[in-house]
Amino acid sequence: KKKVIIDTDPGIDDAMAIFLALRSPELEVLGLTTTFGNVHTALATRNALHLLEAVGRTDIPVAEGSHVTIKKATKLRIASFVHGSDGLGNQDFPPPATKPVDQSAAAFLVEQANLYPGQVSVVALGPLTNLALAVELDPAFPEKIGQIIILGGAYSVNGNVNPAAEANIFGDPDAADIVFTCGADILAVGLNVTHQVVLTDADREKLEQCDSKYARYLCKLMGVYFDYHRDGYFIKGAYLHDPTTVIAAVNPSLLTYTEGVVRVQTVGITKGLTVFDNTKKRLGPLSLCLSDSHVAETGAVDRF
Ligand code: BDR
Ligand code: CA
Repeated sequence: KKKVIIDTDPGIDDAMAIFLALRSPELEVLGLTTTFGNVHTALATRNALHLLEAVGRTDIPVAEGSHVTIKKATKLRIASFVHGSDGLGNQDFPPPATKPVDQSAAAFLVEQANLYPGQVSVVALGPLTNLALAVELDPAFPEKIGQIIILGGAYSVNGNVNPAAEANIFGDPDAADIVFTCGADILAVGLNVTHQVVLTDADREKLEQCDSKYARYLCKLMGVYFDYHRDGYFIKGAYLHDPTTVIAAVNPSLLTYTEGVVRVQTVGITKGLTVFDNTKKRLGPLSLCLSDSHVAETGAVDRF
């Protein structure tokens, strides 16, 4: 089994991704680490604990991440208009009974990388602050961590925050640039991929027929996320950003890849832009694998 840590800002598509990982026999989820993005970090932690409680997986630890960007900015972009004010479709669920571990997300990431050198993949579903902090905490982290699989960036397509930037990169572009240049083995899944992966109305109906606690829970969340896509993108369905990143961890051959170097613009009107160089020569010495298209049927819905 591939050992994974999911760094997440739940988030409706984060919830789908977490459940997909839990339902994937190919993966062993070592823990969840939380970040701001769809909600503030404290709520992300609460949501992560709640999601694990909802499906009886409180054996999985949750480590709380940074409340501020790597440069300590407290003015954050929070996407409650996409995911509801509670981040999980305005469900009004009770506070979780469980607590996060007494360790920061960055410390947890470093600890697990040391415990299992080269064997832990990180599935990063929010702004990359915790990973950048892990690099700061332990400069050898990039060599010790396995693959970092990032939902982030808009490669040759428009962003979803503004024409330049995708939300997770925009959330902390300085952290993203640290991660993209840290030397780790990186796989980035961008909007060029995830805008091809839509949970359709038919998929949603199929999910509604599933007799599993995972499916039942997800069906309760989806309304807000579908409304946002109908009104904002005029599509019947919803983009599966974060679940596609889990799919890249489970079965990388469902995607195709282009190798290159990524740097992130950190200021100005193109703040959060991911600049991709497929010559691997012009932006620095480091290379990464970029997931550049998705055509295969993922089979994700059947896993619930
Ligand atoms: C990303 O931003 C968040 O809203 C989603 O959860 C996803 O991680 C898409 O740009
Ligand atoms: Ca997310």
